[in-house]
Formats: sequence, C-alpha cells, structure tokens
Amino acid sequence: MATINENFLKLPGSYLFSEIARRVSEYSAANPEKKLIRLGIGDVTRPLVPAVTEALHKAVDEMASLDGFHGYGPEQGYGFLREAIAKNDYQDHGIDISADEIFVSDGAKSDCGNIGDIFGTDNIVAMSDPVYPAYADTNAMAGRAGTYVDGQGWDKFVYLPCTAENNFSPAPPDQKVDLIYLCYPNNPTGSVATKAQLKEWVDYANKNDAVILFDAAYEAFVTEKDIPRSIFEIEGAKTCALEFRSFSKTAGFTGTRCAFTVISKELVRGGAKIHDLWNRRHCTKFNGVPYIIQKGAEAVYSTEGKKQVEEVLAYYKQNANVIKKGLDDAGLTTFGATNSPYIWVKTPEGIGSWEFFDKILNEASVVTTPGAGFGPQGEGYVRLSSFGEQEATKEAVERIQKMLKK
Ligand code: MLT
Repeated sequence: MATINENFLKLPGSYLFSEIARRVSEYSAANPEKKLIRLGIGDVTRPLVPAVTEALHKAVDEMASLDGFHGYGPEQGYGFLREAIAKNDYQDHGIDISADEIFVSDGAKSDCGNIGDIFGTDNIVAMSDPVYPAYADTNAMAGRAGTYVDGQGWDKFVYLPCTAENNFSPAPPDQKVDLIYLCYPNNPTGSVATKAQLKEWVDYANKNDAVILFDAAYEAFVTEKDIPRSIFEIEGAKTCALEFRSFSKTAGFTGTRCAFTVISKELVRGGAKIHDLWNRRHCTKFNGVPYIIQKGAEAVYSTEGKKQVEEVLAYYKQNANVIKKGLDDAGLTTFGATNSPYIWVKTPEGIGSWEFFDKILNEASVVTTPGAGFGPQGEGYVRLSSFGEQEATKEAVERIQKMLKK
C-alpha cells in the first residue's frame, strides 16, 4: 500500500493566500456590483518594461529559427544571465560573488522551500514571527516543524518575535539553532535590518555552524543608503549564508517567473559544499528556466532596462507613501513603506486581524492581508501591498479613511 508523507496531514487549513482568495471570491460572488481593490497578495500590476518585452520578442524569433533554437539549457541558468547578475547585483557593489555561484530558478518561493531538500530533518529551524508562510509550511512538509498548536505555531520551530518594541527586527536567540530564515526588507512587516544587526546574525551563524537562508526578494525597495541589500555585504557571510533573490517584485516577473539563489563555494556544512549539494539537487529535479525568459531577465540589466525598472519601482514606492500617509492621517499606526512595498498596520484597539481584514473587505471592498495569517505575533495587524495601480491605491486609502470615520 502506498503510504503518504504524514507531515502534510499536520498542516493547518490552507495556504494563507489561498484562504484569502477563497474569502475574496465569496465576497465578490455575493457583491458583484462592488469594485474590489486588491492590496492583499504582493502581486505586481505594472506591465513588463519595454526593454524586457523587446528581449522576449527577439528570443521568441530566435526560437523560431534553426540556428537560434534552444532546447534544454544549463540547469543553473545560461552564462549570459548568471554573468549579468554577478556583475550588476554583486561585483558592481563591491561584493565578490562569481557567476558560477548563481543558480537561476523559477522563483524565490520555490527555492526557499526546495532548499530544505539538502538539509537534515533534525535541524532546528528559526524564523521570525510573523513570517512569510512558505518558510514555515515547507519545513512542516519536510518534518522539521513538530506539531501545530493553534495560536502558537509549530512546537519545534524557534520563533523570533518581531514586535514594535524590537522594530520588527529580532536579535539572535540565546539557544542554538541550525537553519535561520531571515527576510529583509521584511515580508510582512516592511522592516529592515542594519549592517550591525546582520553582522550579529552572521557571527552567531558562524559560531554555531548554522546556515542563514536570507530572502532578499524585496531588496530593490531599499531607499535608505546604509541599509544592506544583500547578506553578502556583511563580512563573514559567505561561510554561513545563502541568498534568495527574484525578478518578481523588482522587474514585474510574478507571472513570467525568474529568480536566483546565490551560494558561495565557501559555505561548507557536514564536510560538504552547500553549493555542490544544491547543484546536484537542481540538476536532478529542475531543467532550467526557459531561454526566452532568461533573455527577458538579462534585459533588466541593460541601460534602458535599469532606467525603466527604476521608474516602475518609483511608481510602487509612491503608492507605499500614499498608503502610509493616508492611514497615518486616519489615526492608524503604521510601519514599513520606507524601504519596502509593504505597510504593516496596527488594527484599531480591540479588533483582531481577521476581523479588521473582513471589515475592510466588507465595508470598503479593499483586500488586505490579515497579520495573524503570518503567525501569532501578527495578530493585531494587517498588511497592505503597494503593488496596486496608483488611482486604485488612492481610492482604497480614501475608502478606508471613510470607513474609519463612520
Ligand atoms: C506576499 O504577498 O507575501 C507575496 O507576494 C507572496 C509571494 O511572493 O509568494
């Protein structure tokens, strides 16, 4: 008889964004006349920039010719893209990362989950609370989470509470942990970590032979000069950290799919290079991102591409400021926005996060994300995304202001 991975049976309910989608479609079906504004899941709305679409078209034409056709590509990504990433995202910023330390993939979410394949199930996993649910759920599927306790989370994880008191940026724990998920700029709180804070983590990880899994999917939203965009800006990181990055939020690739993971050859655990283990996994389970898409991603680094992408980012950053200012003016307490596409909003006194989510949905027809869905410490917050259209974002803020005045 075929048996199953019983860890799947321990997972609570459905994935956060699937549950939200379910509630939203229920609301839409019951209120077809209401114009819904979606500031929930961090999905981009601006089209791909012209430099990217031109490269995509050109690559499609190449694929239609005998000489330009590409079948299976290198699993790790084509050299042209890996070189462009290494140069533009690292070497030009004084970070010594080479093209062969970059693994191109179909998404940071996939990589964050798949990386677990190469680590033992007995590792103690630390993550922030609230946290991007993919870290928790994928480790639960792998059997590293223990038992789920309602309102408390998984009993084997070491949760790092992120609260207003610690600026949503926790310090390393007193106890020893093995795998540490850090995400900066943070999803969902929009907080950032300073170089000094990340240095503490790097020192902790090197001392304890731990590995930091650093999710930098939102690095393009950093506006403050001294805030690090990469864990590899921190001395000592190459021997204890790997980094996930994505073209999704940076260049509008949520539907197109392209991301990458950076693993230095200096990262060794259990006598093995993590780089080589990931390469082995990647080659076995993945056949690479399509040539056409990688050509589109390469164009993000062209002179035109960089300029155009900056304009799109400025558009979303303006949305973030509009949301933050509008909700502050309405008397709510908000965090994030400055270096992040997310605004983390304290719910009014006595209102829980799902309750506030439902209220905003029902009374303002605006979709947000309830903080409690990201973990127990997210209770009492909702998250708003700045990835909407500008006019709709302004309208959403006005609707919430009006709702709060009632
Ligand atoms: C989010 O809204 O947290 C993200 O869009 C989800 C993701 O990137 O998978």
